[in-house]
Amino acid sequence: MRKNYFLLILISLSVLLSNAYAGEGMWIPALLKQLNEKEMKAMGMKISAEDIYSVNHSSMKDAILLFGRGCTSEIISKDGLLLTNHHCGYSAIQRHSSVEHDYLTNGFWAMSRSEELPNPGLTATLMIRMDEVTDRVLQGVTDNMAEAERNRIIGKNAKEIEKEIEETTPYQAKVKSFFKGNSYWVIVTQTFKDIRLVGAPPSNIGKFGGDTDNWMWPRHTGDFSLFRIYVGPDGKPAEYSEDNVPYQPKYYFPISLKGVKEGDFTFVYGYPARTNEYLPADAVALIAEKENPRLIKIRDARIKIFKKYAEQSPELRIKYAAKEARVANYWKKMIGQSRGIKRMHGIEKKRAFENSFEQWVNGSPERKKKYGGLLTAFSETYKQLEPYKLSADYLWEAGMGTELVLFASRFNTLVQESKKRDADTAKINKEVKKLKKSVQGFFKDYYVPVDKEVMAALLKIYNEDMQFPFKPGFFHKINDKFKNDYKAYTDYVFRKSLLDNRDKIEDFLDGYSPKKYKKLMKDPAFKMQREIVEMYKDNYNQKLKSLNHRIDSLMRIYMRAQMEMQPEKRFYPDANFTLRVTYGDVSGYSPADAVQYIPYTTLNGIMEKENPEIYDYVVEPRLKKLFKEKDFGQYADADGTLHVCFIASNHTSGGNSGSPVFDADGNLVGVNFDRCWEGTMSDLMFDPNVCRNITLDIRYFLFVLDKYAGAGYLLDEMKLVK
Ligand code: ARG
Ligand code: ASP
Repeated sequence: MRKNYFLLILISLSVLLSNAYAGEGMWIPALLKQLNEKEMKAMGMKISAEDIYSVNHSSMKDAILLFGRGCTSEIISKDGLLLTNHHCGYSAIQRHSSVEHDYLTNGFWAMSRSEELPNPGLTATLMIRMDEVTDRVLQGVTDNMAEAERNRIIGKNAKEIEKEIEETTPYQAKVKSFFKGNSYWVIVTQTFKDIRLVGAPPSNIGKFGGDTDNWMWPRHTGDFSLFRIYVGPDGKPAEYSEDNVPYQPKYYFPISLKGVKEGDFTFVYGYPARTNEYLPADAVALIAEKENPRLIKIRDARIKIFKKYAEQSPELRIKYAAKEARVANYWKKMIGQSRGIKRMHGIEKKRAFENSFEQWVNGSPERKKKYGGLLTAFSETYKQLEPYKLSADYLWEAGMGTELVLFASRFNTLVQESKKRDADTAKINKEVKKLKKSVQGFFKDYYVPVDKEVMAALLKIYNEDMQFPFKPGFFHKINDKFKNDYKAYTDYVFRKSLLDNRDKIEDFLDGYSPKKYKKLMKDPAFKMQREIVEMYKDNYNQKLKSLNHRIDSLMRIYMRAQMEMQPEKRFYPDANFTLRVTYGDVSGYSPADAVQYIPYTTLNGIMEKENPEIYDYVVEPRLKKLFKEKDFGQYADADGTLHVCFIASNHTSGGNSGSPVFDADGNLVGVNFDRCWEGTMSDLMFDPNVCRNITLDIRYFLFVLDKYAGAGYLLDEMKLVK
């Protein structure tokens, strides 16, 4: 019985629980009672695991939602106010912005419900329950079956479970793998589709410090935005309609005005996306020493160009703000991650662990039979993977890094449909309609000179770093015909392509008939993306698939072996975009020799950073006035200052942005939005000395809402705890 074996390991651990707590771990809410409650209480928690997750009565989980596809959000009022980060609401805010109504720069505040702005396509998803289904999912699976066959059976079993739930409840269901395919859970959810924008601070509050301070402590960003969930008059999720009404949640979070101080217990409840804590050293070395540096180089080039143009005009800044933020965010994270692994001697630590693992394996003939050769197999596989992985990175990051080329790839379906002998006109018309919409969106934020410079820069890097069979065909032209003059080649592509010109492409689509696909086939931008996609299909797809299958199957065995080898250790599954709880203490850290950080920042720090010359550090006159007058009202800390952010040793990841942060009583004390740079390797290896999550102090949010924006009427629907 696999399931029982697994649960048994997990549960017997809670009895053995070592006292060495390090803040590491993203725990499954449904197992909190067995695995974590005792420790959480010992650390100061006053509520119970049942208050955090229960399927029998309302609990904290009923107020936490996946926001869009990549963030977390929480309900903070009886009428469905939904709080998340500014950077999570960013594209919604940007979509409502123009030079006349620049909500990104100036902020937006609905002064009544009728002013709240709908956001078609934006959703928020609530988890109803989660149940372990390992036995059913693995029915018919054997240890030595091929990975593809295994996946097929698992897929079929999972579908059955999902269908059963979806046919008998109003909810959606999805089976997810945990512990690298050793355990499975079904996640039952409900998705809300009418999410309206209620408020957002100006960027110089919501993004204060910009990309300069991103991933860094000390931080002073008021990184929040406020939405509201609307439902149909029957209380059920519905698409936007004027008749919709505010959602009445089963639970919403009381907000604490008490704040936190060093040493206080906190926990974070949200949706971490992806971590990889159990990889072999070879895999970590590939990421930290080979992939990251290359990706950083490519992104460096793009960011420099974006920045240069963004400084030229407010219009360009609006167009390229979100794009730059997207590229810069992981660029900086990768830099921090590689440095962090090096600083903590992560690869050496993994190798040392692997030595003791080998000894343990060799200690018994039975283990030798099961796990002997595992690490060698990993080594060989990663060696084979390396060139494919690195050049695939170039294909997507550099090849498709030009907006025009990526945009051209949206026309592939149209071409394929048109080429068919019995071209289906209905299908084609539908595709044309879709593309027309897509053209609108693309050109709203597109500026040709930026993209031309990006193309020339990326082609140069690509050409110099990669060798031929790993280059798409158009490099022959660049090398031979254009003699590596990237600018001349770029000029040629943009001159001949019709895709960079809104009028031309709209005319083309207006008068579209299936024969016209030939015009696209001759378009140089369309050809570039086709060569990239085809090269991937022909040279990478199969190879990467089979290598990744091999790694998946090795990883599944290695995961199980690590657990068997360390029966005293409590394991948590890698993040997989399911709801998790992580807990720790408010605490500073030492980022460098002789430097010690304290764990909170104040409005004084904003004034210290103020610089009217630098976009990231401009402070609004209104905020300055409140500061001068010390008009902090009930939001001041006991020490008289206004706290802005704090850090704690909670193990968070990408996706945890917007996650609620709670005190020992389960009251909301903040909104998670980032991690400290020195600890960004926590997705691969957690170092309790330096890994810290960064939280917006909830009192700063309330202060901005009430004192700065004058939207204090929203406080009436919340519950404040003094
Ligand atoms: N680093 C944070 C996260 O990964 C915040 C990103 C948005 N902020 C920014 N300045 N780009 O999402
Ligand atoms: N800022 C990240 C997010 O958007 C959180 C993190 O990576 O710590 O989810």
